Amino acid sequence: MIRAEIEAKGGAMEFSRFMELALYAPGLGYYTAGQQKFGEQGDFVTAPELGGLFAACVARCCHDGLAQCGGGDIWEFGAGTGALAAGLLRELGRRDGLPRRYRIMELSPELRARQRRRLERAVPEYVDRVSWEDALPGDLGDAVIVANEVLDAMPVMRFCVDDGSPRLVHVVPRGSSFGESLQQGPANQLAAVAGLGLAKGYCSELHPAAAAWVASLAERLRRGLLLIVDYGYPEREYYHPQRTQGTLMCHYRHRAHVDPYRLVGLQDITAHVNFSAIARSGVDAGLKLTGYTSQAAFLIAAGLLDLAAREEPAGEAARLALTRQVQRLTSPAEMGESFKAMALSKDLQRPLTGFGLFDQRRRL
Ligand SMILES: C[S@@+](CC[C@H](N)C(=O)[O-])C[C@H]1O[C@@H](n2cnc3c(N)ncnc32)[C@H](O)[C@@H]1O
Repeated sequence: MIRAEIEAKGGAMEFSRFMELALYAPGLGYYTAGQQKFGEQGDFVTAPELGGLFAACVARCCHDGLAQCGGGDIWEFGAGTGALAAGLLRELGRRDGLPRRYRIMELSPELRARQRRRLERAVPEYVDRVSWEDALPGDLGDAVIVANEVLDAMPVMRFCVDDGSPRLVHVVPRGSSFGESLQQGPANQLAAVAGLGLAKGYCSELHPAAAAWVASLAERLRRGLLLIVDYGYPEREYYHPQRTQGTLMCHYRHRAHVDPYRLVGLQDITAHVNFSAIARSGVDAGLKLTGYTSQAAFLIAAGLLDLAAREEPAGEAARLALTRQVQRLTSPAEMGESFKAMALSKDLQRPLTGFGLFDQRRRL
């Protein structure tokens, strides 16, 4: 399919289109075909899959956001196995702070079915509040929007600085696989790269799809909050002189490598998030940058340790699993520092739960 489209385009395809097809081509892409992706049996493990603590902390931030609006909906993007949705609804129910509706935007039909099964099993009492949406309405009303590890799965443009001027990576057929050629691209994107002042030979990514996604949510939100958790850096670190080959990574069965042209449709392809660009896009579209911090600082400020103490693990193995969960979520050697939490808000007056411990907004 990709080869046919490349041919129809005259022999080359811009990398972000290749990534879009490899991940999301209906019925064939990594996220849209049926294979197991998440968990120990899949290709990677995300924070909500480790246990209930991550969702319970995120719930405290959502509860605060909804309370500041006087109620509203939750929109979750890319809900994976439904673990975060189940955990959020359970904790918000416990706090008497359920959203009016819990709306899920999920591109994969297989994951939608899996999410529904998970919610019916885990929180049957709340399933009638949950709906799967096909399109964003023009007006989201008052809402809290949650996206955990979603922006890293959005297609990126790749560029290389060639003889002083930037060029975009295009995908071309090569034997039975694919190769790359450097070509011209949209003037605004090339100007953005030129503005970064990078040296010859430097290659990295741009994130127009993620930036446009933030802007479109900002325009539709009446009041509320966009909470993003993902791995990424501020711009200065993203385009650090030593990170000369960008951040693109592929995952297949818990192995990571950098070749996006292997196992096309069977392996995950991701890139880190440029949090400065995300903040810029949100602020330009009318949001306020309310918080930016590491995942560890966010979870601890949202009460991770109290929540862990509230658990009553039955036996030594369960106690060790709980400790391991806290460690994986917060250790700088695991998810604690490489993952960040960002809150972009509209018309909220008070500081938000989760962002009071270690404010890193100035780094953006
Ligand atoms: C790495 S998974 C993370 C899943 C889940 N949030 C978790 O933490 O386990 C990325 C998810 O983002 C979804 N996704 C990517 N772009 C999206 C978009 N524009 N709208 C909705 N979902 C999207 C994918 O379909 C996939 O379910």
